[in-house]
Amino acid sequence: MADGHPPASPDATPRSGPLPHWSDPDDDVPTLVRGEGVRVYDDEDTEYLDFASQLYCVNAGHSDERIVEAMTEQASAIPYVSSSKHNDARSELAGRLAEVAPDGLSDVYFAVSGSEANEAAVQFARAQQDAPKVLTRWRSYHGGTYGAAALTGDPSTRATVERYAATSGSTKFLPPIPRAFDGATGEELAEQAADHLEFVIRNEGPDSIAAILTEPVGGTSGAFPAPPGYFERVRDLCDEYDILLISDEVIAGFGRCGDWFGIQREDVEPDIVTFAKGVTSAYAPLAGVLVNAELGESLREEGIDVGQTFAGHPVACAAGVAAMDAYDEDLLDNVRNLAPTLESELREMADARDAVTDVRGRGFLWAVEFADPDSGETFVDPWAGDEGENPVVEVVEAAAEKGVLVGGGRPNFQTIVAPPLCATEDDIREGVRVLNEVIGEVFD
Ligand SMILES: Cc1ncc(COP(=O)(O)O)c(C=O)c1O
Repeated sequence: MADGHPPASPDATPRSGPLPHWSDPDDDVPTLVRGEGVRVYDDEDTEYLDFASQLYCVNAGHSDERIVEAMTEQASAIPYVSSSKHNDARSELAGRLAEVAPDGLSDVYFAVSGSEANEAAVQFARAQQDAPKVLTRWRSYHGGTYGAAALTGDPSTRATVERYAATSGSTKFLPPIPRAFDGATGEELAEQAADHLEFVIRNEGPDSIAAILTEPVGGTSGAFPAPPGYFERVRDLCDEYDILLISDEVIAGFGRCGDWFGIQREDVEPDIVTFAKGVTSAYAPLAGVLVNAELGESLREEGIDVGQTFAGHPVACAAGVAAMDAYDEDLLDNVRNLAPTLESELREMADARDAVTDVRGRGFLWAVEFADPDSGETFVDPWAGDEGENPVVEVVEAAAEKGVLVGGGRPNFQTIVAPPLCATEDDIREGVRVLNEVIGEVFD
């Protein structure tokens, strides 16, 4: 061991290779080699029902020929065009996005990832409003890069970055969820949460706040739809205090919650929308920022001094146009038709299992929350991160062993269920049946 390394053993697990994201040293990370629709296959040809659309992003399902063909065609024509120039696929996708976007949003600044889209949105908002701060929710996820992690409310993401580098510019507020307020009805909850937000705005100083950045339906934090009337109050507060409203649609967008964008169910118009994941059904990395005409105009007049090499990559844009065709053709309708089945199956499961304390969500994005049936306590502290014994981790692992992939929430006292939008009624029943069985095995 003169060089400081242990002697190599022929049987040792190889220690080089890709470093998986969001991984634990004890994780047994599978190698997936093939996918078809809602199914994926590992290198031993074991089949899994992908009940999480990987990271809530393969919305059209795996290997949709419509998307693959469009990408191939674009790669053959011209695979890459500088992000400082125009390209047909990029312009076409920008036009298609503007057609379905919330009213008033007209221009698109492309990015590569959701984190970068949120950072760009915040940069534009700060410049437009000439104000430094952004308000985001404690239970939120907006990305894992330096700036986006500062916007994120999830403690473990933020702490990973903040442990070594000071972050600033973002102030957190409480989300409109029952754990944060005691309102007995949705309306009361909405009012209390909006009053709290106003308190934060007034105490931070309205003139110092450029934007409120929020997911319209909580994503990995727990698939929370907002209580009725909440977003109308948020919009009113933004108007009253001259603050921009940014809707982070990275998970909620592109049919995941039954509409093109999650905020469209709330009957309010955001000033900015950020998107990623489902825009290409994750067939290629692509993200972006949709801005209102005023912002678009000022960005056009002033010019933009920053950018990214791969933003608006033509092959990704071609995938985006084809994915949007697929959502239009059949997938949005499928979510709308089958969301009630997914909801009722999950609610039936919750009624049958004492450890399941809540199910909530919209469209094909649901959270199943667990607590100790004896004490009623969740297995991890929701505000302090994921530490200690947690049987919910076993649920996720045992479901995978039985061939169904579900997501782990952040905080992970919940699992996230988010099948591809092409899932059939049988797929949905199968996924929930296996989840139910596994919950029985882990808790009973
Ligand atoms: C709501 C939300 N915003 C932003 C992001 C960051 O996106 P990306 O991982 O593409 O950087 C995510 C990722 O899961 C997300 O869920």
